[in-house]
Amino acid sequence: MNTELSGRVVLVTGASSGIGAATARAYGREGARVAITYRDRPDRAEKVAADVEDAGGQAHLVRLDLEDLSTVDHAVATVVERWGGIEVLVANAVRWGGDGPPDPSVRFEDVSLAEWEAMIGANLIGTAATVRAVLPGMRAKGWGRIVLISSSVAEEGLPGPGPYGTAKSGLYGLARSLAWNGGRDGILVNVVAPGFTLTDSRPGIPAFVTDALAAATPTHRLSTSDDVANLIVFLGSGANGNLTGEVIRDGSAAARAPHIGG
Ligand SMILES: NC(=O)c1ccc[n+]([C@@H]2O[C@H](COP(=O)([O-])OP(=O)(O)OC[C@H]3O[C@@H](n4cnc5c(N)ncnc54)[C@H](OP(=O)(O)O)[C@@H]3O)[C@@H](O)[C@H]2O)c1
Repeated sequence: MNTELSGRVVLVTGASSGIGAATARAYGREGARVAITYRDRPDRAEKVAADVEDAGGQAHLVRLDLEDLSTVDHAVATVVERWGGIEVLVANAVRWGGDGPPDPSVRFEDVSLAEWEAMIGANLIGTAATVRAVLPGMRAKGWGRIVLISSSVAEEGLPGPGPYGTAKSGLYGLARSLAWNGGRDGILVNVVAPGFTLTDSRPGIPAFVTDALAAATPTHRLSTSDDVANLIVFLGSGANGNLTGEVIRDGSAAARAPHIGG
């Protein structure tokens, strides 16, 4: 399979850890030029950049904060200035709104409207802003691939606050609309909806928890960040010839773990 990624410019948001970092490394192995965004942890992003270059790609680091949309435009402009355009976008960055995935003990009515605005603003409007910023260049080139990272929570819900899942389900509508809007210009857009994923950002989860989750999946195992990254790279590559507007769920998405899943 030819991914046609050698030398292509790829922007992976939120690539300083987890699925985004694995995705950046996977694009590096394909020889792509990979722009890696971080928010608070440039040190971790630097390590990912070194891995990308060791793997045969090129890397460029830039800060992007979904809660400050000026940084989105600035990040895209920086990459375009350096490499002449962006051909693939992986919109993976997430505002968790705390120390990690949403707290299931929080009651719906106790979530402030300010938190709703912040969550939707970052994870839905911030993602739309990132897409908006890269689209003109893709249209001009007549080629582009966009992968939006949602979550199984978008469909399964979560027994806690609602803003995260609401924002993630909004990405489905975004992708469907954009598939029609960009298709004639050679731009394909898809959503990846991972379930509970084993990442470097979630160490220390007890084995009895992950084992129980794995047992609830068809394959009896949870996806790793590399599993999800490989799926993303296929969708966001020339190997994807005509798949657009779809939501792809991974094997972990069947695990019913809303109390700890993202
Ligand atoms: N892990 C899972 O089980 C799982 C399941 C379903 C869906 N997902 C989705 O998969 C994606 C990656 O999740 P993950 O677990 O790999 O995440 P993660 O390891 O926690 O990494 C999150 C990334 O987003 C960046 N970030 C944090 N706040 C940000 C903000 N306000 N603006 C821009 N970037 C910000 C972080 O940068 P810094 O660290 O530099 O601040 C980091 O690079 C997310 O969209 C998530 O919703 C994950």
